[in-house]
Amino acid sequence: MGAFSIRPISGEDRQWIADLMVDHWGAEIVVSRGVVYTGADLPGFIAEMDGERVGLLTLNIAGEDCEIVTLDSLKEGIGIGAALIDAARQTALDAGCRRLWFITTNDNLHMIGFGQKRGFELAAVHRGAIAVSRKIKPQIPAIGIDGIPIRDEIELEMIL
Ligand SMILES: CC(C)(COP(=O)(O)OP(=O)(O)OC[C@H]1O[C@@H](n2cnc3c(N)ncnc32)[C@H](O)[C@@H]1OP(=O)(O)O)[C@@H](O)C(=O)NCCC(=O)NCCS
Repeated sequence: MGAFSIRPISGEDRQWIADLMVDHWGAEIVVSRGVVYTGADLPGFIAEMDGERVGLLTLNIAGEDCEIVTLDSLKEGIGIGAALIDAARQTALDAGCRRLWFITTNDNLHMIGFGQKRGFELAAVHRGAIAVSRKIKPQIPAIGIDGIPIRDEIELEMIL
C-alpha cells in the first residue's frame, strides 16, 4: 500500500465524481442550507493512491466563506480525510476567506466528532432543515447512520 497524494479536481474527474455522488449521496445533487449543488461542477480536491482515486472533497467559495460541500474518503483511517480538509483550509486562506464551514446531518456523529477534532466548532443546529432538503432531493433517506432519523442540519465552522 503506497502513500496517497492530494491534487485539485480536473475535468477528467467529472464523471467519476458524478458516479460517486450517486453511489454515496443518492443523487448527483447535494442540498445544503436549501442551496442545490451539482457535485461534479464544484472545485475541490481528489486523493489518489496507487493511481486510484481514494477520496474527494468539493467546496464552494462565496465571499469570505468557504463551504466544504462534500467529503468522502474511500480508504478510511489513514489520513485522507484530514489531508483533504487541510487542502480546503489552504484554498480558503489563499482566497481570502474568513470562515471554513460545512453541514452534516444529525445522524453523522462520526463527522461531527471528526470535524471538531480537526479545529471545527459547532456553529448552529438547523432543526428540521432536512424536510426542506427532501422536497428538493427525495433520495435523502428517512433513517440514517445507526438507525438515527435524519432531521437536522448541523453546521460546523472554523474561523480562519
Ligand atoms: C469522515 C471521513 C471523511 C473521514 O475520512 P478518513 O479518511 O477516515 O479520515 P482520516 O483518516 O484523516 O481520520 C480518521 C481517523 O483515522 C485516524 N488516523 C489517520 N491516520 C492514521 C494512521 N496513519 N494510523 C492510525 N490512525 C490514523 C485519525 O486520527 C482519525 O481518527 P480520529 O477522528 O478519532 O482522530 C470518512 O469517514 C468518510 O468518508 N465518511 C463517510 C462520508 C461522510 O460522512 N462525509 C462527511 C459528510 S459531511
